[in-house]
Amino acid sequence: MPKTFQLETKDNETIELEMGINLSKQLDATHSPILFGCRTGICGTCLVNILRGHEHLTPASDDELELLEIMADDQSHPRLACQLKCSGDISIEYIGK
Ligand code: FES
Repeated sequence: MPKTFQLETKDNETIELEMGINLSKQLDATHSPILFGCRTGICGTCLVNILRGHEHLTPASDDELELLEIMADDQSHPRLACQLKCSGDISIEYIGK
């Protein structure tokens, strides 16, 4: 049985997802609180600010850090949701466009 974690949005929506599987592979277009574009880390559509649980995320790559510096240097814990795998509960605010 897969281990799961809770993804909570700023609007208090909670979604149960599987640990260790990329978020963009688990959130489909019909009920995702996050919009995805390229799903490869280059467009920034999936930009989120991690409100809680950033210690449960895979580290950002150099390419992701470079994009985050350009698109979200005013956020405390920005990440590209399409690049994330989680190992515990997180809370997010979707800030992409
Ligand atoms: S969907 Fe394009 S950067 Fe994540």
